[in-house]
Amino acid sequence: MKDPSFRRSLTLFRAFLHEQDGPHAAYELLARDAADQIERHVRLDGRIVVDIGGGRGYFTREFRRRGAHGYLFEPDLAELSPVPGAGAVVADGYLLPLADGAADVCFSSNVLEHVRDPGTFLSELVRVTRPGGLIYVSFTNWLSPWGGHEWAPWHYLGAERARVRYEQRTGRPAKHRLGENLFAIGVGATLRQVRGRDDVEIVSARSRYWPVLPEVVPRVPGLREFATWNLLLLLRRCS
Ligand SMILES: C[S@@+](CC[C@H](N)C(=O)[O-])C[C@H]1O[C@@H](n2cnc3c(N)ncnc32)[C@H](O)[C@@H]1O
Repeated sequence: MKDPSFRRSLTLFRAFLHEQDGPHAAYELLARDAADQIERHVRLDGRIVVDIGGGRGYFTREFRRRGAHGYLFEPDLAELSPVPGAGAVVADGYLLPLADGAADVCFSSNVLEHVRDPGTFLSELVRVTRPGGLIYVSFTNWLSPWGGHEWAPWHYLGAERARVRYEQRTGRPAKHRLGENLFAIGVGATLRQVRGRDDVEIVSARSRYWPVLPEVVPRVPGLREFATWNLLLLLRRCS
């Protein structure tokens, strides 16, 4: 699908409306879309691609389908159930069991908002990427309409209130709690942090899903915190 385009954004949005009843279709579509985004910069065939916080492995499977040597690193054993498949490693993204520069492509989708210290997490992604290699990092920022995850959009009225409301409405415990496994990460603050690094150059900073001018929205202070929705950073590891 052409990226950006209204057709692509609408197709992804529709898939996500059915994330609960049809997660496979939604995540397989998202994985194909992310792999296409990477392949605009580097061919995956024959590359070593590490997926950090890769959850159930949809992305790693897609990278392998395209000929990459894909490895999944995930700290939550439940995500890898019933057993971690071949090439899956139980590991924390802060401390990866990988040598410096081991990966051609380091990939992390929707993990940064779940770590307390995104700067340190990012440093570890950079460390394991070879000089000249590509780093793909995307995250849902806090003020995005989806920032509160399962209790969105009520997070705009306060995280705790939104979480309690979710639990009362569904009768289920919420998966996320602000300050424990979900953090209020901003677009502007993250861009400033990344621009301040001397070990990466920014190839692209864009809204992951926007249908038009996806690179413009993250440049507009204020607006970007609400409209970016999900920030995608493509970084190149400096030599
Ligand atoms: C919202 S899920 C995203 C899963 C998958 N990457 C995707 O885009 O569908 C967040 C994932 O981040 C993982 N995670 C949380 N903290 C992490 C850490 N310190 N290192 C690596 N992964 C982490 C969680 O276990 C979970 O699988």
